[in-house]
Amino acid sequence: MTASLVEEILRLKRERNAAILAHNYQRPEIQDLADVVADSLKLARSATEIDAPIIVLCGVHFMAETAAIANPDKTVLIPDLNAGCSLAATIQAEDVRRWRAEHPDGIVVAYVNTSAAVKAEADYCCTSGNAVSVIRALPPDVPVLFLPDFFLGSYLKEITGREMDIWMGECHVHAGLTPDMVAAKRGEFPDAEFLVHPECGCVSNVVYAIGSGDIPSERCHILSTERMMARARSSPARRFVVATETGVLHRLRRENPEKEFYAVAEEAECEYMKMITLEKLRDSLRDLKYRVSVPPDIAAKARRAIDRMLAIQ
Ligand code: 13P
Ligand code: SF4
Repeated sequence: MTASLVEEILRLKRERNAAILAHNYQRPEIQDLADVVADSLKLARSATEIDAPIIVLCGVHFMAETAAIANPDKTVLIPDLNAGCSLAATIQAEDVRRWRAEHPDGIVVAYVNTSAAVKAEADYCCTSGNAVSVIRALPPDVPVLFLPDFFLGSYLKEITGREMDIWMGECHVHAGLTPDMVAAKRGEFPDAEFLVHPECGCVSNVVYAIGSGDIPSERCHILSTERMMARARSSPARRFVVATETGVLHRLRRENPEKEFYAVAEEAECEYMKMITLEKLRDSLRDLKYRVSVPPDIAAKARRAIDRMLAIQ
């Protein structure tokens, strides 16, 4: 069944001349079929570079919106329209307008996990892969309003030393990865290297533990999912414990068969990411559904924030 479904998807993909872009949290069988498997930053960059009239975004809705903003002339599809994001849902465009009105001279930096309408209200966009560079590139002495992830914002504040107002949003999956869980895994795997996503509930505690020497800095890295892939390849360590959504384990293991990877919590699964199945991908390619488009006025404003981010290395 799965084999014939995979063949059908590959045939439809060929006939449609479609590209499949998948996030690192997608199901293994979706990752294995994709042209690009990446983090939010690389997906945003790939969306501007891809040479195909149809893009199927296997990820969550804001990622498909970002691809649609980058490609107004292409058809961008998401296999399940319900694939949302609990973090993106914590803030709406009118919240940003109200917040900005309270700080009229402030710069609004929106994490990529936001709707296009929220990005349209922002000055800069950022992802976990470039957030430190984006904050460091901002003009000095201007109030910074960072949204919507509280843990990532607090991490950025600690790393860059920049004073910021931070929105109180969180991702339910990452917020659930607590300092106690990391401590328990450190006990279980004392020789392992830790790879931690900056959206995690444990991130400030981990920064403190590194700063105080409690965790050796070479044994713990705070990274986007794509940088986790690069670190796993280049690190001399043999064992890794990963604090993020467990979808990353498939690629980490496939690309590093001689190394061992463990999750801080096996239950750290994003139900939105996992909504994308082979059947829905097949239906998406067959019936050209579900098309994601962004109204031109919102897209133009959101593109400004995204382009400013992409211009920062
Ligand atoms: P990346 O920035 O590593 O893609 O992870 C963010 C995330 O949670 C995607 O939903
Ligand atoms: Fe959103 Fe969290 Fe799922 Fe990422 S893991 S898509 S931040 S709900």
